[in-house]
Amino acid sequence: MDTVLLEKLPDDSRIAVLTVNRPEVLNALNDSVMEGLAAALDALESDASVKAVILTGAGERAFVAGADISEFAARSPAEHYAVCMAAHGLFSRLETLDKVTIAAVGGWALGGGCELSMCCDLRVASANAVFGLPEVTLGTIPGYGGTQRLARLVGMGRAKELIYTAGRVDARRAYEIGLVNRVVETHGELLPECVKLARGILKNSFSAVTAAKHAVFEGAQTDLRTGLAHEAALAAGTFSDEDMREGVSAFLEKRKPDFCSSKQG
Ligand code: COA
Repeated sequence: MDTVLLEKLPDDSRIAVLTVNRPEVLNALNDSVMEGLAAALDALESDASVKAVILTGAGERAFVAGADISEFAARSPAEHYAVCMAAHGLFSRLETLDKVTIAAVGGWALGGGCELSMCCDLRVASANAVFGLPEVTLGTIPGYGGTQRLARLVGMGRAKELIYTAGRVDARRAYEIGLVNRVVETHGELLPECVKLARGILKNSFSAVTAAKHAVFEGAQTDLRTGLAHEAALAAGTFSDEDMREGVSAFLEKRKPDFCSSKQG
């Protein structure tokens, strides 16, 4: 059985669904999943027709319940360092993918699962979702970016509390602290809500949305002055884009824009 599945929506090939598929172990991330995710990213990076990716876990019990703990026991410090560095590379590829990425989180999103969801642009959770970084209960710390991305998303104080206490955060609380963007009641509503969100975004100029994605990402890595300079360069770049001409013409002509970059290819 494939541990990672990648499928385009039958009625909208601009949107792909990427599924971690090990439901028998709550979609825990083992080597095979990491290889599958890398292969899926290879495919997505070379397919410009896909504009949005919804990342989810198979079944209703879990998004991803973390790194596969059964692989920890025999691992040396040097091996774990290599595993963490490889995960950082992979997760950073997802984070900077030139597409809109949305995590559809139902059930457990612990450890590596929480870390994986934080690499997406947006997170939608069903009411049964539970987020957390429980690594200190195992005598280790988050190693797939959790100490860095959680603090950036929800602030250092909340991140420290969650990591030190191994606290679990339900969907409502995750929404309150800005860890998720939207909450739906049932698991069945999760994918439709993500598709609705993706389609809403793709009504806008895709090239502008991805430029904004770069501006926000680069700005978060640097000082304000450098971030502003980067923003100005990206904003200027949009002025040579056909989409910008179309958007402005549509506004002046009081009609809906028809953005080239957002169409099915
Ligand atoms: N790695 C490996 N296997 C895992 C796993 C993980 N991170 N999370 C769950 N599983 C496996 C369980 O071992 C169990 O396998 P089994 O049926 O062969 O015994 C199966 O998935 C179902 O999990 P189970 O613990 O029986 O479900 P539960 O509903 O009682 O508890 C959790 C769910 C998520 C609370 C619990 O599985 C858990 O704490 N998982 C580990 C979470 C974690 O610490 N993640 C960070 C890792 S760094």
